[in-house]
Amino acid sequence: MKLFGVLLSLAGLLSAAPTPQNKHPLALRDGGNLTACPGYAASNVVKTDSSLTADLTLAGEPCNSYSEDIKNLKLLVEYQSVDRLHVKIYDADLKVFQVQEEAFPRPENGKTNSADAALEFNIVEKPFSFTIKRKENDEVLFDTSSSQLIFQTQYVQLRTSLPKDPHLYGLGEHSDPFKLPTDNYRRSLLNSESPNIPFNSNLYGTHPVYFEHRGGKGTHGVFLLNSTPMNIFILRDDAGNQSLEYDTIGGVLDFYFLAGSKPHEVSKQYADVAGYSAMFPYWTFGFHQCKYGYWDVNMVAEVVGNYSTAGIPLEVMWTDIDYMDLRQDFTTDPERFPIDKMRELVSTLHERGQRYVLILDPGVHAVAEQASYARGHEQGVFLKAADGSDLLGVQWPGSVAWPDWFAPQTTEWWIDEFRRFFNPETGINLDGIWVDMNEASNFCPNPNCDPYPEGNPPIPQNPPRPNTGRPIPGFPASFQPTSNLKARADTNQSKGIPGREWFNPKYSVYNHRGGLSDFTIPMNTTNYDGTKQYDTHNMYGHMMALTTHDAMIDRRPELRPMVLTRSTFAGTGRKVTHWFGDNKSAWEDYRITIRQMLAWVAMHQMPMVGSDVCGFNENTEERLCARWAMLGAFQPFYRNHAEQSTIQQEFYQWPLVTEAAKKAIDTRYKLMDYIYTALYYQTKTGKPMINPLFYLYPEDANTFAIQEQWFYGDALLISPVTTDYSTEVTYYLPNDTFYDYWTGSKIQGQGANVTETNVNYTSIPIHIRAGTIIPTRLHSANTTAELRKQPFTIIIAPSDAGKATGRLYLDEGEKIAQPDVSEIDFSFDGGKLSVDGSFGYKGDGGESITVERVVVLGQEKEGKVGTWDEGRKEVVVEGEWRFDGAWGFEL
Ligand code: GLC
Repeated sequence: MKLFGVLLSLAGLLSAAPTPQNKHPLALRDGGNLTACPGYAASNVVKTDSSLTADLTLAGEPCNSYSEDIKNLKLLVEYQSVDRLHVKIYDADLKVFQVQEEAFPRPENGKTNSADAALEFNIVEKPFSFTIKRKENDEVLFDTSSSQLIFQTQYVQLRTSLPKDPHLYGLGEHSDPFKLPTDNYRRSLLNSESPNIPFNSNLYGTHPVYFEHRGGKGTHGVFLLNSTPMNIFILRDDAGNQSLEYDTIGGVLDFYFLAGSKPHEVSKQYADVAGYSAMFPYWTFGFHQCKYGYWDVNMVAEVVGNYSTAGIPLEVMWTDIDYMDLRQDFTTDPERFPIDKMRELVSTLHERGQRYVLILDPGVHAVAEQASYARGHEQGVFLKAADGSDLLGVQWPGSVAWPDWFAPQTTEWWIDEFRRFFNPETGINLDGIWVDMNEASNFCPNPNCDPYPEGNPPIPQNPPRPNTGRPIPGFPASFQPTSNLKARADTNQSKGIPGREWFNPKYSVYNHRGGLSDFTIPMNTTNYDGTKQYDTHNMYGHMMALTTHDAMIDRRPELRPMVLTRSTFAGTGRKVTHWFGDNKSAWEDYRITIRQMLAWVAMHQMPMVGSDVCGFNENTEERLCARWAMLGAFQPFYRNHAEQSTIQQEFYQWPLVTEAAKKAIDTRYKLMDYIYTALYYQTKTGKPMINPLFYLYPEDANTFAIQEQWFYGDALLISPVTTDYSTEVTYYLPNDTFYDYWTGSKIQGQGANVTETNVNYTSIPIHIRAGTIIPTRLHSANTTAELRKQPFTIIIAPSDAGKATGRLYLDEGEKIAQPDVSEIDFSFDGGKLSVDGSFGYKGDGGESITVERVVVLGQEKEGKVGTWDEGRKEVVVEGEWRFDGAWGFEL
């Protein structure tokens, strides 16, 4: 009966019509005979208070559909904490690749008694399947019984049933709807350079975690720790049955089930596994300017100067690969960016209270004359071709070698290159670093391409002078290939099954760039630890980013590093942050920004994120850029960046954008301590600093799919105009009380849409959620250092019951060790404000800790203290309180 049911549902799936954006997922399976697979039978089931183990044996003749069935598996179930269940299915021989500890340190197993756990694991022995249930309400969260487990050398399939029309989020990186489509939708996780961030595609990063929200029945999360490329399908058969299916081309099934049951609790539980975000310096919340194509160091200085002239605060100036000599890492162009002038640029920026960030790429120009390459080659830091020579690809400088981030000497070498180049005495004293192209992107279209093309790829806008080198010929004898691989140490890490089909496995993972190895490092390449790129490809950028973080710590041991990476893997956020890559200057991309931000902050624990403001590819346009300048001010990372061939799009280029940016930055800066506080608490508690609406209204089904509004922190609802060239916006106001941020007026949300007209290009609707208290700076400033000298204003937005709470975290802003911090709690009740908490931070660098004004919104009459503003219906209390002890007053 059961088998019949499975056959029926498969038949239904096979006949379902293709969705417009996506061919039917099963069409990608090139004929593998799925139904004939025998599944597994469990035996030797051993249960303890906090665990379960079993042997899984192939239950019949192998089907070998996409590769060979592995006969003997093991099951391990651990109740790791009250709200986390670990379920791992792996090969008994331990030959199959498992993600290295150094790439993803495993969380501690807290060995919780299963009787105390929120989730319950149940096994069906034959055919093997399992369910996971939320005990509190008997909701079945995961149930694998609708299809047989398939575990082959190059194909692993597991399917779980889902409720009808499930509310699913996550599975980044993608540019698709925030609430994922559920009608035969495919996510593919295969890191890739992704110009214009296409829909329904693999993008730069891999985060195999989904959140499922069931309204009042709770929210849970499922994280699959597996880095080998995979497709994940959300399926619906003809009968309407829904399921989620993992189809990987390798690795083990290493699941973490996160019980929630509130959305933000799942975020926290995911942080318990993948790591809590790094804390970033206060200045990183300032406004950043970048462009690919700044001609020379004078032009960079000119842009900084133009910002000042226009009166638009600029905190951080960036320089793209233009600064490099022929696009080579750790060099400066002697004519356009001479090192002495670069040093002068940086010291001038620093004197002005501004910061400087530079880019690096992983591909190192493989020519003898390139000193960094020569040193790296000698130390054996590069990935090797089969003959032991450095494996070559093509990147900006021409032929490049790729650092092997799993080799210990690579870290040493990278840190050493940082010491030489980013040396404050002789080199560039940078504040942050940007690592790019690290999927890794290879301009060689396929593994057979010639890494010595006839003439290196053109370097646009470079001065017309001959390229300095051709690789390898002319190399001194000491640079001839050595057999480093043989000398490499063995580790306990399973290297993965040898002899697999590295290039065209029978089961194919979708790649918008073509085949598995196209435009990247070939999948058969062996890493230092003996593992293959096939299994570790999705962690290449992650490993580069972590190593770069360590190099920044070496340079500036006391300071929190700001490292921005394009490619990521689950857990990258522990140390590094990300921007959304090469979007377009288009309204659609402006909208996509919002949903990407929501997923990254709440579901991937990478809070300090943002898009290229005004768009990267193609020319932007004044009105789009004005809107984006406003929107970007309410995303955590706020950087204007554009591609080389586009028009210049600095905010001062158009009067309308100048005006919008000034207002946006003014507002953002006043709110900076509020959002810095929210970041701090995300790093400590996992609670997101940017909230999707359903996080705050989990039982309001109208909020589940909202992707064009968000809460900045948990008090400010941002609802930008999202229609092209429109001055009208329709946004959702939950059934709650709000205050208009700009006018102070009180608004009762009806759980319905509201349309606002005449929203000009320098406006953005913002509502304060009643019941919150927002610490702000009284005035904005030109730099964050100056901003910190401004006194505070506290805005109180009382609930209908006259209550409100809020928090403020204060510290020095940049150091890793912060002995003197303040964690301040505000509470307002019955007209009485109390300010309590800890008050370690004294503002010793001249920063203000004084509150000059408290504004209580929604007041119908005067109080005992303060002045009543009848128009705005608020009481303003002026005074001189300090954040150096408890205080308060009564209205
Ligand atoms: C990549 C980056 C982009 C950068 C360019 C040149 O396309 O994503 O931000 O400007 O390379 O370095």
